[in-house]
Amino acid sequence: MPQHKISPDSPIGIFDSGIGGLTVVKAVQACLPSERLIYFGDTARVPYGSKSQVTIRKYGREDTELLMKYQPKMIIVACNTVSALALDVVQQTSGEIPVIGVLKAGAELAVNQTRSGRIGIIGTRATIYSNAYACAINEIDRNIEVFSKACPLFVPLAEEGFIDHAATRLIAEEYLSELLSKQIDTLVLGCTHYPILRGMIESITGPGIRIIDSAEAVAGKARELLSAESMLNPGTKHAVPHLMVSDLPQKFRELYRLFMGTEMPDVELVEM
Ligand code: DGL
Repeated sequence: MPQHKISPDSPIGIFDSGIGGLTVVKAVQACLPSERLIYFGDTARVPYGSKSQVTIRKYGREDTELLMKYQPKMIIVACNTVSALALDVVQQTSGEIPVIGVLKAGAELAVNQTRSGRIGIIGTRATIYSNAYACAINEIDRNIEVFSKACPLFVPLAEEGFIDHAATRLIAEEYLSELLSKQIDTLVLGCTHYPILRGMIESITGPGIRIIDSAEAVAGKARELLSAESMLNPGTKHAVPHLMVSDLPQKFRELYRLFMGTEMPDVELVEM
């Protein structure tokens, strides 16, 4: 991959398997409002969380190649599944451009927040079976106990907008009961879609458990890194993100409103 010249005005590239990564766009916008963001959501091939490692790695490389055409100064992997199984591929594909994934940022924040040293992780099957969160946490502190639970139904529930729905509550209670019995004091939302269900999850876990939103964690990390490299965009304008998707499902506009709380700007359709 040829190297390109980067400057503080260069964009930040963000990608996800679909629209869920908009939770990361929202967090980065809140933290770094004048940064130019280029977002790619692979809506034609979502979900990644139920696919094999080989496929996830191939998609991760192709998504990064697409973003590299826009000469970004940084790439943020908004997808937990790609962060868990293919971060090295993204790094190789982006050459010397710094890459940050939601997983490491979320793991670090969880380690900082836990008092009891008992952390719960929820995510897609691929993320949970990879054990990547537990590895990242135990790399920082090997005395921390990590308890994980795959919650595959949360993604379709969030996409259906079943945020405050009785069915979601039943499923969430079922998924979370096992983790709650482990006396965790910190729970990582290890999937792009879960911040949408945060209110419901919190109402079940109660006030004694700190919720870690990987989207917020990665945004804070991006700011730290850009600031350390003197690469923060000095502009004062609030930049509108450039959005790209590989398929434009009918309900995209609706989902955009759900994830971002605002009307959808223009979206570019790209072929993968
Ligand atoms: N973006 C995925 C993640 O954060 C969730 C959706 C999917 O399975 O592709 O793990």
